[in-house]
Amino acid sequence: MKPSSLVEFYNLLNLIEDYFQYGFRQEHPPFALSDEAPEEQIERISRQIAQCKKCDLHLSRTHTVAGEGVLNPDVMIIGEGPGGDEDRIGRPFIGKAGHYLDTWLKAVNLNRFKNCFISNIVKCRPPKNRDPEIAESSACLPYLERQIDLLKPRIILTLGRISSQILTGETAGIGSLHGRLFTYRNIPLLPTYHPSAVLRNQSLRSAVWEDLKILRSVLDDA
Ligand code: URA
Ligand code: SF4
Repeated sequence: MKPSSLVEFYNLLNLIEDYFQYGFRQEHPPFALSDEAPEEQIERISRQIAQCKKCDLHLSRTHTVAGEGVLNPDVMIIGEGPGGDEDRIGRPFIGKAGHYLDTWLKAVNLNRFKNCFISNIVKCRPPKNRDPEIAESSACLPYLERQIDLLKPRIILTLGRISSQILTGETAGIGSLHGRLFTYRNIPLLPTYHPSAVLRNQSLRSAVWEDLKILRSVLDDA
């Protein structure tokens, strides 16, 4: 098959998949084969997210939060979903939890703009910061999968129970998942606590510090 007809073929497959998954079709080009550069594809996914109505979270959002950072990051950080500040501005982890997260990164010589990419399970804020529902995280997950495949992080750091359980497929709580290495889409994945949880409960700080040291050693050993 010629590349153009291959692209059409994959688009058709996506269309059929969408129909069975959601019962309707939305524009879905990020999942098609493309010869665009990865950075352009990442931007295109962000523009698609901005238009997305695949789940009801679109009804209450102010801004979508697609994520931000560098291509080929050392670490892809995955939170749960935008909070109030993020929804207002359209950028990930810019509130109190985000400032705290920045200090964690700094402690292990990382920086969100230099060697990380920060994203979330759902790209629209759940009302009153409730947990995303399964239908919402499932509807949104293809964006994250595509982001991961394009960005090719060296390791994934999941923050908190929601993203850790969804990406590891485990049902155990974060207390037992954190600090253990998993694999997601062929990439090492390390769960840790969510910075908001640590802000509420300072006794978790030493566990996070141990997790961050594991993160650093995986990067240094590779
Ligand atoms: N909490 C999250 O999980 N994600 C954000 O982007 C902000 C706060
Ligand atoms: Fe689309 Fe994800 Fe927003 Fe739902 S949360 S509307 S799937 S971008």
